[in-house]
Amino acid sequence: MHNVVLIPGDGIGPEITEAVQRIFKAANAPINWIPAQAGMSAFNATDNPLPEETVDLIAKHKIALKGPLETPVGAGFRSINVALRQRFDLFSNIRPAKSLPGIHSPFTHVDLVLFRENTQGMYIGQERWVDDKNKHAESIAVITRDASERIIRAAFEYAIKHNRKRVHLVHKANILKLTSGLFLQVGREVAPDYPEIDFRDIIVDNMAMQMVMRPEQFDVVVTTNLFGDILSDLASGLVGGLGLTGSANIGKEHAMFEAVHGSAPDIAGQKKANPTALLFSALMMLEHLGHDDISNRIRNAVFSVLKDQSACTADIGGDGDTFTYADAICLAL
Ligand code: NAI
Repeated sequence: MHNVVLIPGDGIGPEITEAVQRIFKAANAPINWIPAQAGMSAFNATDNPLPEETVDLIAKHKIALKGPLETPVGAGFRSINVALRQRFDLFSNIRPAKSLPGIHSPFTHVDLVLFRENTQGMYIGQERWVDDKNKHAESIAVITRDASERIIRAAFEYAIKHNRKRVHLVHKANILKLTSGLFLQVGREVAPDYPEIDFRDIIVDNMAMQMVMRPEQFDVVVTTNLFGDILSDLASGLVGGLGLTGSANIGKEHAMFEAVHGSAPDIAGQKKANPTALLFSALMMLEHLGHDDISNRIRNAVFSVLKDQSACTADIGGDGDTFTYADAICLAL
């Protein structure tokens, strides 16, 4: 039995986490859920959007599954998602995108896994005004050899473990010769340690075009923070959108699995939310814990329900709701 900290989160979070718990129970997944609070619901209850108790539970149990958290726009507390990634040094953001049966998309053979460096690049929060009239701003990007090496090795190790053949490193080293150049250089130094993997590099603008022309050529992809943020959403778009793709944030000791969509306040509490993205994130968690067999069983059950669609939520063309969908998956199991 594995202890997993479960943060239902805000908006549709409690509904989609309940759906995932039902499905895990039906599959006899050996998970002991430890409930914890974060986000706006935690702020309203305790005046703190990230209670120390939640941080302590994640520190202790090392694995968390997290629903979406509402972040106030403009003012208010800063993103709890970003705070959690920094607090536990979750440097590897892993976003698979795979074509699904029954889901309409112009692409039918997408099966890629994108590794995004989660701690550096343009996202370190170092921005400033250069002048006193706020007409000139600048932002600093940081790339280090160590952080580049750990994410690039994570991508290669994943490729080996999952029997994948190719790793593409995405960069802009023709223009950003030092930062992106260093990332590429580290990739070229690391690649010979994995001779069974076909290593290629590609400039980010070409990558964006290739992904919408011939996405099936990509297998494992590794890139820096900003490029990864954009390309991972693009990859989700290739297979039906953010409601259908899971995500993992993995560090040396801790891991947090989460849906990448938001708290969808417009449909919260109406049983309209699609739980697939959180479920696929939870399946990544099962695989991380060594339960590929249970994960595969649940994934096959989802595929069979998606093919028929009638029980699915409306956003993917079904007539059902969050729980008719979850119950149909339980039945298929
Ligand atoms: P959103 O992803 O919550 O919603 C965008 C649209 O997609 C809405 O029409 C919504 O109904 C729909 N949608 C999203 N997830 C769905 C699901 N599972 N099933 C069916 N429909 C779904 O993005 P929005 O509106 O920009 O953000 C709302 C709140 O979520 C904000 O407070 C934002 O900060 C937060 N957010 C949190 C994230 C996280 O915790 N990882 C990520 C993105 C946004």
